[in-house]
Amino acid sequence: MLTIAVSKGRIYEEALPFLENAGISPVDDPKKSRKLILATTREDVQLVIIRATDVPTFVEYGAADMGIAGKDVLLEHGAESLYEPLDLGIATCRLMTAAHKDEPLPKRRIRVATKYVKTAQRYFAEQGIQAEIIKLYGSMELAPLVGLADCIVDLVDTGNTLRANNLEPRELIMNISSRLVVNKAAMKIKHQAICELLQQFEQTLTRRRAAS
Ligand code: ATP
Ligand code: PRP
Repeated sequence: MLTIAVSKGRIYEEALPFLENAGISPVDDPKKSRKLILATTREDVQLVIIRATDVPTFVEYGAADMGIAGKDVLLEHGAESLYEPLDLGIATCRLMTAAHKDEPLPKRRIRVATKYVKTAQRYFAEQGIQAEIIKLYGSMELAPLVGLADCIVDLVDTGNTLRANNLEPRELIMNISSRLVVNKAAMKIKHQAICELLQQFEQTLTRRRAAS
């Protein structure tokens, strides 16, 4: 049995064509079902539906053989413990700093609100900027508006959320897309099954690139 960890929502929706082309369709719709382990149309494959940020943990410990996770989440988790063989090019966005529109950052040590604490710490240290990082779990854009932080580190796609809150994107930290990750032991023990699936995902990717 191969267990694949996927998060509900955006990544699941965008990963579906890759899974379907490999003959993997969940028997129950994760949007309607309360089941956390979903059987699929392939007897040898099951999906576990978890929070996006938990995907690397499940795969690292071998609770799932493979998973699909955003590069933002992998960076923050520290992905050395996982293989990351394929960039699926889905759920693309940018990890950026953002701040009040047209306002320079203060000269003192800045306060930065983010859920990407380690990534932000690393980024500001590399830039030689003194920053105090404040951990939030969501609605980062609110922090500068209420004086909690001078700037934020968050994902930007259309920029609508920043614009709606009178903020502007500043520095690009990294372009983000979702990656296929594989448990290192599973790669040895279930080598053939995993490589077959990898090939099928790669074929989908090649076809998509040719079509675009
Ligand atoms: P969690 O439930 O663990 O807090 P989440 O609410 O951030 O995670 P999603 O919003 O589904 O979960 O995001 C999952 C992934 O999709 C992110 O890690 C990122 O890689 C990507 N992503 C997030 N927001 C966007 C966006 N606006 N546009 C494109 N991709 C995005
Ligand atoms: C993400 C991210 C930003 C927003 C950016 O939030 O945290 O708030 O998307 O996208 P935009 O540039 O297109 O506006 P999401 O919509 O996933 O909500 P969340 O707060 O549940 O993570």
